[in-house]
Amino acid sequence: MASAPPPAMATATAVALVLLLSSVAVVTVVAKECTNVPTQLSSHTVRARLQSTPGAEEWRWRELFHDHLNPTDESAWMDLLPLAGSTTAAAAAEEFDWAMLYRTLKGGVGSSAAQAGATPSSSSFLVEASLHDVRLDPGDEVYGRAQQTNLEYLLLLDVDRLVWSFRRQAGLPAPGAPYGGWEGAVVELRGHFVGHYLSAAAKMWASTHNGTLAGKMSAVVDALHACQQAPANGGTGYLSAFPAEFFDRFEAIQPVWAPYYTIHKIMQGLLDQYMVAGNGKALAMVVAMAGYFGERVRSVIQRHSIERHWTSLNEETGGMNDVLYQLYAITNDQRHLVLAHLFDKPCFLGLLAVQADSLSDFHANTHIPIVVGGQMRYEVTGDPLYKEIATFFMDVVNSSHTYATGGTSVSEFWYVTDSRMMAEVYTLSSVGSFMSEMILPGSTRSV
Ligand SMILES: *[C@@H]1O[C@H](CO)[C@@H](O)[C@H](O)[C@H]1NC(C)=O
Ligand SMILES: *[C@@H]1O[C@H](CO)[C@@H](O)[C@H](O)[C@H]1NC(C)=O
Repeated sequence: MASAPPPAMATATAVALVLLLSSVAVVTVVAKECTNVPTQLSSHTVRARLQSTPGAEEWRWRELFHDHLNPTDESAWMDLLPLAGSTTAAAAAEEFDWAMLYRTLKGGVGSSAAQAGATPSSSSFLVEASLHDVRLDPGDEVYGRAQQTNLEYLLLLDVDRLVWSFRRQAGLPAPGAPYGGWEGAVVELRGHFVGHYLSAAAKMWASTHNGTLAGKMSAVVDALHACQQAPANGGTGYLSAFPAEFFDRFEAIQPVWAPYYTIHKIMQGLLDQYMVAGNGKALAMVVAMAGYFGERVRSVIQRHSIERHWTSLNEETGGMNDVLYQLYAITNDQRHLVLAHLFDKPCFLGLLAVQADSLSDFHANTHIPIVVGGQMRYEVTGDPLYKEIATFFMDVVNSSHTYATGGTSVSEFWYVTDSRMMAEVYTLSSVGSFMSEMILPGSTRSV
């Protein structure tokens, strides 16, 4: 932004920096443990390996969990927020107040919702050309053909098969059979592909206005709407292909495979159906989901502590912050803004805020979306610290964490950079098993 930030914003930034600095001082004691327990376990690569040793899975889970669990983890966040002992904590205990939590997160400097919602002038950013206004030449040998292939693939997918596990979760009749791979009926990530489908179909429809695809994607939204409204979900707003019990495990810091990772995909898919394809029903569904998960997070903080919530973020949560900032930009509902902040994982963004190059050993798939969400925070709220965080992150990745192939991680993790030998060792030892995972029939890879 060209102009200097208003004084209130500068103060808020300074306070946030001090908070982040003090958290980093504590975090360094336990090094990278704040990130990879239990993310290490939910790494898709690690999970794929565990699943390729049939029978031993439970045992391996326990072994890995104990190997990596650091009992001091929770203390790493204890000083992050000035909650304990303050008068605000007592008041908050009586009645949970989203506005109060928001002020606390912002460092107690009395930011108002209006300031938080202040959007930087639209001229600060490039404006996207709408997909509705762009057409590829169908005769083009490369891009035209690629688009046609992608369209035909999306049209191959069957509505009943896509939503099968959602219907089963909702207690509704589920004709047909579910898809396999990670959409399989007992795979803990089931449903995330449907979120990708909704995003892809919305963008493909905007780029082609193909009526067949329009019918299919709105049939998927309608079927998911019926699941969200089903008595089994009791008007809570819950919408998922797996039971809510997965979130009990997530909140109890017990092994579970990344339930918020999947919820992010579904929320983003529905939001794209609204933003790109104009489906108003899809927006109402995302709002209901945000309500359900907002209640869950509020309950964790009330029943346990905010530290417990931060600890749970060691599990991979996809771009929850990203999609919630986008939602807030549409609804202007402060609860969506606060919930977005609560997915801005502080122990990782804090390191970037103080410009520490400490990417090595972090799980890349978990943390890249969090930075993307941080950039969205800047774009939506104008908070300049988050622009600096994203810019610094890109500089570090580009200058010291990029392989000749253009990739940034090996088997989903960043490694020590200043030793070429390390990179070679990791590449050589992991390439065999990595390749075999890539070609497993029915497997899907995504970030
Ligand atoms: C959508 O695209 C498919 C594949 O190109 C085509 O067969 C179909 O006729 C199109 N639908 C409409 C309504 O144009
Ligand atoms: C990445 O680094 C290369 C080599 O230093 C540089 O030429 C390029 O501009 C950088 N790209 C970005 C996006 O910073």
